[in-house]
Amino acid sequence: MADEADRLQPELWAPSAETLETCLVKDYDALRNQAAADPLGFWEREAKELAWFEPWDKVLEESNPPFFKWFVGGKTNVVLNALDRHQNTPVRNKLAYIWEGEDGTVRTMSFHALNREVCRFANVLKSMGVNKGDRVTIYLPRVLELPIAMLATAKIGAVHSVVYGGFSVEALAERIQDSESKVLITADGGFMRGKPVPLKQIADEALRRSGTVEHVIVVKRAGLAVSMEVGRDYWYDELMGLPFARNPATHGTCKTEVMDAEDPLFLLYTSGTTGKPKGIMHTHGGYQVGISATMKYAFDVRAEDRWWCAADPGWITGHSYIVYAPLMLGVTSIIYEGAPTYPYPDRWWRIVEKYGVNILYAAPTAIRGLMRFGEAWVNRHDLSTLRLLGSVGEPINPEAWRWYHRVIGGGRCPIIDTWWQTETGAFMITPVPSLPLKPGSATKPFPGILAEVVDEAGQPVAPGEEGKLVITRPWPAMLRGIHRDPDRYVKQYWSTYPGKYLTGDSARVDADGYFWIIGRVDDVIKVSGYRLGTAEIESALVSHAAVSEAAAIGVPHELKGNVIHGFVILREGFVPGPGLVEELSAHVAREVGPIARPEKIEIVDKLPKTRSGKIMRRVLKARAMGQPEGDLSTLED
Ligand code: WT7
Repeated sequence: MADEADRLQPELWAPSAETLETCLVKDYDALRNQAAADPLGFWEREAKELAWFEPWDKVLEESNPPFFKWFVGGKTNVVLNALDRHQNTPVRNKLAYIWEGEDGTVRTMSFHALNREVCRFANVLKSMGVNKGDRVTIYLPRVLELPIAMLATAKIGAVHSVVYGGFSVEALAERIQDSESKVLITADGGFMRGKPVPLKQIADEALRRSGTVEHVIVVKRAGLAVSMEVGRDYWYDELMGLPFARNPATHGTCKTEVMDAEDPLFLLYTSGTTGKPKGIMHTHGGYQVGISATMKYAFDVRAEDRWWCAADPGWITGHSYIVYAPLMLGVTSIIYEGAPTYPYPDRWWRIVEKYGVNILYAAPTAIRGLMRFGEAWVNRHDLSTLRLLGSVGEPINPEAWRWYHRVIGGGRCPIIDTWWQTETGAFMITPVPSLPLKPGSATKPFPGILAEVVDEAGQPVAPGEEGKLVITRPWPAMLRGIHRDPDRYVKQYWSTYPGKYLTGDSARVDADGYFWIIGRVDDVIKVSGYRLGTAEIESALVSHAAVSEAAAIGVPHELKGNVIHGFVILREGFVPGPGLVEELSAHVAREVGPIARPEKIEIVDKLPKTRSGKIMRRVLKARAMGQPEGDLSTLED
């Protein structure tokens, strides 16, 4: 009993004897130290576990920082590892995906069937003139055609840019335009809480604002009536049935393009400190090494596991840990289309029980949302198959951690709290199951990753002190740049502390070397784990006829982590009132997406600005939170 009490004490949660006995990495610090002594050796060993068309000449080229190159001279394709190499092994007949629609429809796909669909769709893309290096935008609900489209694009050497289905017209138009995509893959609609979302209609509007797309491929999901433009728009199902998709000359297969390790695999747009989202670029070679090594060690994945990463494939979490890494490791993934609470708050627990999920990887905001409904919804389901739990997207508050651990994990599942970013491609700070855990800490840097918390001068701070989180050495899954904007890449990430990658987060390291992430210190707001930029919200607000100036801030919120508050100055002739405020919120939701809808908008006469005209958001934030406003000496007025 005393042991039990010790195990559950909140400060340090030690793994069970069984976990210690069965897990892959028994001594994390030993592996970390060994990798720290020879990081390139560590990554090279991981790379050698994968299939390559041709080996590399050099693990890391760092002669032109920060434009680092990994596995230089190596030839590969992530699809070679995700699909091709399983086709001659028993994995071929395993399920790659178990998909459940919000309406209860179930669809399963083996590695063999997935490969066939990917080959067919790759042939379709080729027939539409998509070549190596071309960009393809994918705007789909959470259906299996989403991984199929990503894999098919990668297979032929083209570059995918997935836009989350919760984004709306302007956000989509901007991403299509910046990536200069030739083809757009979308659906008639998707389901969210039983309601269809008209994706094709949103896409049509976005295409009116962007000019590069030649063809649109439409997946049927929601049964919505859509307008199809002759010569531009095609139904996915019809294309997949055509002779060139089956390509009898090659028995329906399609060659996997031989890619240089450094050739681009995808662009994924994410919010930064300006109004324009950044097209974060990842490549084939280093990325596949980073994601497979991290998933294997941190989640201790076993061949027989059923893995459920409950994110959306449209985010980096989904790219790395729903699509590429689980397929590379040959495990079965669950994909659930809809909302966690639909039709009842036990939908997730029902899915865990039904499919015997072994590892659940979710966001703290979802956990907090489900916590509200109480334990009874959980306890009517058998969750005993769960062995590990994961957390990602924002710091997990200790209360949510304990609930997740006790109620969902039955007190026996370690919580793997993974800190990383769209830019890092793979986990950077994470425990492994054998490491004693502290609720709320992402614990220690992954082997081969060197992280530091530094002060304004770039010097490491003392244990327990807050500072900026930086990464001091390149890593294989790192971003290779920002699409069409190398200067912004250098300036944003590598200029504040020369030679160190700036994460944008603040953190603390405690006396045991555990990292505690505090949150963003730039103009990025995390709302329910979604990353939004203040400038994006502001530019959506000022695009409304009534608004002359706008400011947006993030304010802490119990459930969502943060919510957005907007402040606007009206143009002359517009009358303030609840009607207008509602109209402005709806306008932001329509332009950027429902996730960006401000919780509150205040109409003001003035905004606090510096003498050079920069809005002082920290002053607005302090006021909104009822805190002291700090140094106001730079305030203009
Ligand atoms: C930002 C990156 C990486 C997948 C999803 C988010 C925050 C992410 C954690 C964590 C504390 C976290 C950081 C980071 N974040 N994971 N485990 N603990 N904070 O990717 O949208 O690029 O956001 O999410 O603030 O900088 P993203």
